[in-house]
Amino acid sequence: MPKHVKIRYDRWNEAWGGYQAFLEGLASRAGVKRICDIGGGANPALSLEFIREHKLSYVILDISAEELVKAPEGYEKVQADIASPHLDIPGGYDLVFSKMLAEHIRDARQFHKNVLSILAEGGIAFHFFPTLYAMPFILNRLMPERLSAILLRTFAPRDSYRFAKFPAYYKWCRGPTHTQIKRFEALGYEVEEYIGFFGHGYYMGIKPLDKLNSFIADILISHPVPSLTSYAYTILRKC
Ligand SMILES: C[S@@+](CC[C@H](N)C(=O)[O-])C[C@H]1O[C@@H](n2cnc3c(N)ncnc32)[C@H](O)[C@@H]1O
Repeated sequence: MPKHVKIRYDRWNEAWGGYQAFLEGLASRAGVKRICDIGGGANPALSLEFIREHKLSYVILDISAEELVKAPEGYEKVQADIASPHLDIPGGYDLVFSKMLAEHIRDARQFHKNVLSILAEGGIAFHFFPTLYAMPFILNRLMPERLSAILLRTFAPRDSYRFAKFPAYYKWCRGPTHTQIKRFEALGYEVEEYIGFFGHGYYMGIKPLDKLNSFIADILISHPVPSLTSYAYTILRKC
């Protein structure tokens, strides 16, 4: 594993519970003025209050006009496919981030290449995504869309208007493996930090399974296997 990359591991609930503070920490870094929330769709991650308070320019970029309409008024919205080989949008962003988008992209290389191209020199890309080989995501990857939608409604019911389900491919959605780090470096990123999270909340309704899930997550935190994470944060710098 490259020595300069900061790698650490935590529990899945830290990934979700700590997300807002982590993102706001990146958005508050010195020099960050222009931010792009890719796949922000119905749920832009930073509030209008935070954006105004920190005098930020903030754009939500999403492939779906239908999802963008669901986002509150007041946000600047751009409809575009971040994985298009013909992406033609203004760049120069200090921070480009995505939350639960990467798994929905078929062409991961083009996606990360495009993100690099819209970053300013020294700019940061931050992605939060589910990873293989966690069981719920292996199943979601293998099952027909209709069946996985039924399972999701059973194990993790949610407001399907604000949190619609999209097909997932999990391309380049892995924990801090050597291969992942090399992929990002080969594109021209410096991997600043890679955090892998173990465990997930999909068994919360089935107590014995949930306990086993927590027990295994704790063992994996002390003896990490990067390919068995359930979620990851990657913090990449354009150098
Ligand atoms: C699971 S939703 C996540 C929305 C939001 N980030 C959140 O955490 O609630 C995935 C979003 O990515 C968008 N998306 C999927 N593929 C995309 C692409 N190629 N380019 C831009 N947006 C895309 C979808 O339209 C959707 O709004």
